[in-house]
Amino acid sequence: MNQHPIGIFDSGVGGTSIWRELHKLLPSEDTIYLADSKNAPYGEKSGSEIINLSKKNVDWLLERDCKMIIVACNTATTNAIAYLRSHYPVPFIGIEPAIKPAALHSATGKVGVLATSGTLASQLFLTTSKTHAEDILILEQVGEGLVRLIEQGKIDSSEMRLLLQKYLEPMINAGIDQLVLGCTHYPYLIPLLKELLPHEVKIVDCGEAVARQAFNVMDEQGLLSDSSQQGKYCFYTNTDTAVLQQFLSDGDRAHQIEYRDF
Ligand code: DGL
Repeated sequence: MNQHPIGIFDSGVGGTSIWRELHKLLPSEDTIYLADSKNAPYGEKSGSEIINLSKKNVDWLLERDCKMIIVACNTATTNAIAYLRSHYPVPFIGIEPAIKPAALHSATGKVGVLATSGTLASQLFLTTSKTHAEDILILEQVGEGLVRLIEQGKIDSSEMRLLLQKYLEPMINAGIDQLVLGCTHYPYLIPLLKELLPHEVKIVDCGEAVARQAFNVMDEQGLLSDSSQQGKYCFYTNTDTAVLQQFLSDGDRAHQIEYRDF
């Protein structure tokens, strides 16, 4: 089992931001990354649609003998991880907006959360906000249109800049000092966000914490690879491989990137 790959899925290319953190921490693990770009964005779908898409992705990864699954998507985690954990025998690691550290570090007591509507409307998000940020004012903003533009590779575009300005303005005016990135696509917007945000606003992203959590769970369950060689990294997309390639560095591109109709 130790030598089996780790499976990672997202509604598209955004989860490569999590894959990168995992790869930094655990370079000798084999990984299979699944970008369900054909069905992006998940954030506008119903809870049951998100569960069905997540099941499809997990079934595909388990057919390829994955020992653990990372749900590299806030929308799929907040809507489907409880279902997945109760229906499949492998460990699941998820990602949800990092409200807790943001609330702890906020001096103004005002925290902005940029996420999909599916994440913000989920029960898990509601529970986490209530538990960890009771005395904090949370300014929620749906990042409508952002995932679509990122999936088209339009990161540094005027459309993107205009949308972000519109979404950030109310949060900046309200006095946030922490902006939580509640979608794994959004770390690709950090350079633009830094330009648009006042310098005192901290951007909170928990990709590294997800990788550490994956390490801890594999360590506890005896699932870590015992190889000292670099792992094999496979990336699959159900749309254009050229788009996925833009989100991987030259070194990562040397590995397998293929189209599959899943
Ligand atoms: N990367 C996904 C997330 O973290 C994007 C969701 C979507 O496809 O709308 O939520």
